[in-house]
Amino acid sequence: MFRLLHSNSYTLYLVSTVKCFLMHDSPWWSANCCASATGNRVPMRLLVGLLIFMTALFSSGCQSKPETRTYRIGFSQCTGGDEWRKTMLTDMKRELGFHPNYTLLYEDAGNSTSRQISQVQSLVERGIDLLIISPNESKPFTKVIEAVFKRGIPVILLDRKIDSESYNAYIGGDNLQLGRMAGTFIANQLNGKGRIVEVWGLPSSSPAQERHKGLQEILTKYPGIEVVKELNGQWERDTVRRVIASELDGLKNVDLLLAHNDVMAMGAYDIYRKAGLQKQLNFVGIDALPGPSAGMQAVTDGVLKASFLYPTGGEEAIKTAVRILDGKSVNREQILNSIQVDASNVYALKAQSDKLLAQQADIEKQSHRIDALTQTYTSQKNTLYLILAILLVALLLGGWALYLYRSKQTAYQTLEKQNQEILDQKDEIERVSQQARLATEEKLRFYSYISHEFNTPLSLILTPTEDLLGKKTVAPHELKNGLSLVQKNAYRLLRLVDQMLDLRKSDVGKQHLRASEQDLIAFVRDIVFDFRRKAEKQRIDLQLITSLSKLPSWFDAEKLDKVLFNLLSNAFKYTPKGGLIHVRLELLADQVRIQIEDNGQGMSPEERDHAFDLFYSGSQPFSLSKGIGLALSMEFIQLHRGDISVESVQGEGTTFTILLPLGNSHLQPDEIVPTSSQRTLPRLPVEEDVDEALQPASLAGSKQTGTLLVIEDNDDLRTFLTTRLGNEFDVIADSTAEKGWERALEIIPDLIISDVMLSGMDGLQLTQRIKADLRTSHIPVILLTANKQMEHQIEGVRAGADMYLTKPFNATYLIETIRTLLANRQKGQQRFASDFVPQAGGSREEKKFLNELTRLIEQNLGDPGFGVEKLSREMGISRVQLYRKVQAQLDRNVIDYINDIRLKRAKYLLRETTRTMADIATETGFNSAAYFTTFFKQHTKKTPSEYRKSPVEA
Ligand code: FRU
Repeated sequence: MFRLLHSNSYTLYLVSTVKCFLMHDSPWWSANCCASATGNRVPMRLLVGLLIFMTALFSSGCQSKPETRTYRIGFSQCTGGDEWRKTMLTDMKRELGFHPNYTLLYEDAGNSTSRQISQVQSLVERGIDLLIISPNESKPFTKVIEAVFKRGIPVILLDRKIDSESYNAYIGGDNLQLGRMAGTFIANQLNGKGRIVEVWGLPSSSPAQERHKGLQEILTKYPGIEVVKELNGQWERDTVRRVIASELDGLKNVDLLLAHNDVMAMGAYDIYRKAGLQKQLNFVGIDALPGPSAGMQAVTDGVLKASFLYPTGGEEAIKTAVRILDGKSVNREQILNSIQVDASNVYALKAQSDKLLAQQADIEKQSHRIDALTQTYTSQKNTLYLILAILLVALLLGGWALYLYRSKQTAYQTLEKQNQEILDQKDEIERVSQQARLATEEKLRFYSYISHEFNTPLSLILTPTEDLLGKKTVAPHELKNGLSLVQKNAYRLLRLVDQMLDLRKSDVGKQHLRASEQDLIAFVRDIVFDFRRKAEKQRIDLQLITSLSKLPSWFDAEKLDKVLFNLLSNAFKYTPKGGLIHVRLELLADQVRIQIEDNGQGMSPEERDHAFDLFYSGSQPFSLSKGIGLALSMEFIQLHRGDISVESVQGEGTTFTILLPLGNSHLQPDEIVPTSSQRTLPRLPVEEDVDEALQPASLAGSKQTGTLLVIEDNDDLRTFLTTRLGNEFDVIADSTAEKGWERALEIIPDLIISDVMLSGMDGLQLTQRIKADLRTSHIPVILLTANKQMEHQIEGVRAGADMYLTKPFNATYLIETIRTLLANRQKGQQRFASDFVPQAGGSREEKKFLNELTRLIEQNLGDPGFGVEKLSREMGISRVQLYRKVQAQLDRNVIDYINDIRLKRAKYLLRETTRTMADIATETGFNSAAYFTTFFKQHTKKTPSEYRKSPVEA
């Protein structure tokens, strides 16, 4: 197969194309192939390469000799009916068997000149490459053949000639010579004397003319030989039979009859034999065609005296045609040899020709077998090609399917990837928006805290000021107390403002280090010393622990002062009485380490992680000291190229560690200032605990106007409220909502005042709890907050608060509000007391309480043993709580309330029924009718019987 491929230039071209295609980018490829994924180009290329290769294979198989052209040879035969011409055609076909690319288009004119002319024209029109013609007559064909020749179609004249030179080759026997040979034979046979008959072929055909001419040439030499008759046999046996039969009488005395061909000679013999005259004369013909009924056999049989071999030239004609079409030179005149066949040589010739015929028959047989084999081979080859084609299609489809599958896979993977990316982006966006939301929440919380932080000191400045101004005379200690509260809160505001300014500076990147060299030990000692008094008061073990006596270092005194002051304030804030706060100062390699350690309440891990975040306060309310202070501390220490960190364990304590680099090589020139130019603001005084100075009023001297519970985490405000409200009410104060709630349950106060922002449970949650609990739902609640925003107020009211006051508030207004709420409740008590089923007013919880109370009493009215004990058990509260609650809501004793209901029921039964006193007494819970009568008279000034008879009151 490969030998075949490589011998084929076309295939070579295809193979190189495939190779080239597989190795390089082709424009076709670029233009026609979607390059969706680079990875798919190679398999696709392989596929297309394979396709081209298979096509090459297929084509090369089908066109094993692509250079071989096919030719069409037209053969126009004057007649095909006689044996001689049949032999000619057989000879031609045999030769054509060696030239499979030559096709023969055969036309038989049946001895008709006109038909043959039109057949020639038809052959030309059908596009023949060469014309072989045996023209019926000479002249009529001259022009026809010239026209064909002029068209460039090569012409071979076979056996018969035309009157023109317009042909490429003439192939045939030498007819003139044949005529001479016949004349010579006749002369010899007749010894120069005798009578003969000449039977012509078609007189207008060249062989007939030439044969006659040759004969005449010889006979003129023998005057003793007389041609008694010339007959026209037209080359046909039957024509001769007819002619002889009609003229037999005049032909009886004849010695020899020469016909232009054997078939005509044998036709004449037939007639003479019929007449029994055949032995009187000899018959001579031309052609000497081998075969069982042809001329050679007739000589053998003695029918003919002699014949002359006249070859058909069929084989030569095809050979010559092939050479012409191959562009090779040919002999223009190909005269075929002839011999005389008579009794002397006919056997030898016949044997030879028989052998030749047998061989030809063998060849033909083999040729048929080869044809059959070729056919088998061709059909097998075609089957193979079909299988290959199917295989190719299957391969292509398989490849295509694979390609589609892989494309799909790739597309799917790309989609998956994109999907994942989108999901990741979505998560990221969610994360960022969550962060943003948290940051916004923290900011809002921070701002809310800041206003709270500002409002509390403002309240504590405004309230004592208004108080002092409102008094006609002020005692000196009262004035001092008031003013010191004002001063202390003014300082607090100052520090807040200072921190806010620092924060603002940090925010806009304006914080600038102003470092100078100072003794760090003395500096830290000074700050620690400032907290000495506070430590003594709180019995806190405050120590500065260091082995160094002096440490000159470069720092910004103002900023480091703020950091240390803030850290120490924090430590004091979260360290209980009796705790410890230790400040350690140590020298490391090229750094100094300052640690502030306390054993206070510590931070949760989350609080610790966000300790230095400005807006973070976790779930706790924002603490300025922790929030701004620590964020600023971090900022200031970082300005020093130092570091600050925190370690803390909840319930065990906290340690802040500051690392500062020594020397000044880390500082920029503009960060260094002379010591004298450092801004030294007077340090704000360490805040003293005011708890002792302003103790809440003692519960001992309880006022009659009511008991108030104050819940406020700011010590100053809590103390102020306790003192200020203590003049008119009994005040009990707590610092957290949790403690406040326990206290409320314990004492059931008349009114609760609570701050909203509390650590742990806040004011809103506390209010909700108070209002939801049966035991406390009746207690009016006032919420105090720095938040003026409407939604916060709404939140407060929704939680069930009766009043919502924003800081700074006016003390007188607060007192008036308390009075109004207490008075309103009094009215509510009277209203409730006026009927057993409360109608309007009061909270849902209060109504629920009274409904439940009334229902239980009415349900157990018949039980004389039903009293406070059973009722409190049924209500699920203690006896004391029941007393207080009923007292608070109805302004009467529980037992009185039970009796009221009994009485009302009794009145109803007396008026509306005719039941006996004993019955009514039993139904309303009296052991005896007598006791019922006494009780009834005590409360209504009438006996039951009198009441029943008396007219109904309007
Ligand atoms: C056959 C034939 C031959 C003869 C030749 C002359 O048709 O008649 O017998 O030799 O034609 O053209």
